[in-house]
Amino acid sequence: MSLEVIVLAAGKGKRMQSDLPKVLHTLAGRPLINHVLETAMALNPRAVHVVCSHDDESVRAVSDGDAVRWVVQAEQRGTGHAVQQALPGVSGDALVLVMYADVPLVRCETLRTLISRAGHSGVSLLTAIVEDPTGYGRILRDSEGRIEGIVEERDATDDQRAINEVNTGILVAPVQALGRWLARVTNDNDQKEYYLTDVAALANQDNVVIQGLAAPTMEEVLGVNSRQDLALLERVHQRRLAAALMDHGVTVIDPSRLDIRGQVTAGRDCVLDINVVLEGAVALGDRVSIGPNNVIRNATIGDDVVVLANCVIERATLGAGARIGPFARIRPGVVIEERVHIGNFVEIKNSELRAGAKVNHLSYVGDTTVGRNTNIGAGVITCNYDGARKHRTEIGDDVFVGSNSQLVAPVKVGQGATVGAGSTITSDVPERALAVTRARQRHVSGWRRPRKDTKR
Ligand code: UD1
Ligand code: CA
Repeated sequence: MSLEVIVLAAGKGKRMQSDLPKVLHTLAGRPLINHVLETAMALNPRAVHVVCSHDDESVRAVSDGDAVRWVVQAEQRGTGHAVQQALPGVSGDALVLVMYADVPLVRCETLRTLISRAGHSGVSLLTAIVEDPTGYGRILRDSEGRIEGIVEERDATDDQRAINEVNTGILVAPVQALGRWLARVTNDNDQKEYYLTDVAALANQDNVVIQGLAAPTMEEVLGVNSRQDLALLERVHQRRLAAALMDHGVTVIDPSRLDIRGQVTAGRDCVLDINVVLEGAVALGDRVSIGPNNVIRNATIGDDVVVLANCVIERATLGAGARIGPFARIRPGVVIEERVHIGNFVEIKNSELRAGAKVNHLSYVGDTTVGRNTNIGAGVITCNYDGARKHRTEIGDDVFVGSNSQLVAPVKVGQGATVGAGSTITSDVPERALAVTRARQRHVSGWRRPRKDTKR
């Protein structure tokens, strides 16, 4: 039998109190549904069917495309009804795995075990033993320990509520049997819904054995029903991501204060201080040190780079041994070569800084090439925008740009040139020349400052 996955994603998610469909709320920066689809795809199923509601264009828009077959459940009449909508599209010989789009952390290995556990009858159910079963369906077992049904909390008796084995919602069954049982499910319950969970009792009536598998940890089967759940799962997930980095030789000063929203790779002996947010694709070389309060998005960071506190770095490449910050902003399109220093209150955009260049204080460098070992003084601004268009500034190697100068683009400063402090450069500066544009200093001797009238 080949595997097909049905992902339930049509629920309203009322308890989220949100205008956004629940499955689009994000975990580690990605919609819940994407986490589940990624896990489903990793099982190499023949097809993945996603049940969504008719107005969920936005849900379809986020998913990874082609491989998914969308099924519309026009009215949310329960999880059983939702599965039923997908069945006509499932091949007659398939083994079906049902996943819930609001249970995002389940691991592939666990699902593989569940599928192999299904055995002869082809039916298996992922359960979890928990301390606090509140909110979940409870697993009913007979005196011999066989699963005989599932009861939802709101339909349960007090005795049943005390059961601490819960339904994760995830189950495996052959499509034919599933179809037969779902056809017999009624909505005779507190919510007047067609519950997928009733399939357990029906299988039991047909003497079909349901193999239970208790999830290795409760964490991976937690469901998101409220924003509090979402926050809880976010931390669980982040702890896992931090643990994986630490296992690969990264020091994480406090795993509860690291947030990864993307794919991070790191060499050996990197250190991540507190309150670091890494987004998108971030690649760290060896011995990279990221100080506290840094946001780094889509960046490649070379060996021995030091990022001091409070920087924002986005879509940039930093060469080996570069030192950034504190309080620097590196905007998209920046290439910084080896040993470049970017200091405090410096903003760099769409620029290349060649090896050994320094921009240490209070500058804006945009649409600029800065040559090797060039020093940009404090408060220098490349005036790249004329109100309509952006223009480039090209600064050669070994240039010294004095403090508080403006370079009005398009303009070039030749290799080895010097720009005197406080200059406004509007035409190209030849190689090795000194350009100064400020007014000469003059002295008025014996100058008397105006005085305030003094009252007698
Ligand atoms: C469900 C289970 C419960 C289990 C829990 C685990 C049922 C009846 N109950 O309860 O036993 O402990 O999950 O997390 O199955 N959905 C649809 N269409 C619908 C209704 C729901 O697609 O008409 C989808 C939702 O988007 C969600 C999933 O099914 O992804 C579960 O629905 P939800 O309402 O969250 O069920 P729970 O009350 O959490
Ligand atoms: Ca749920």
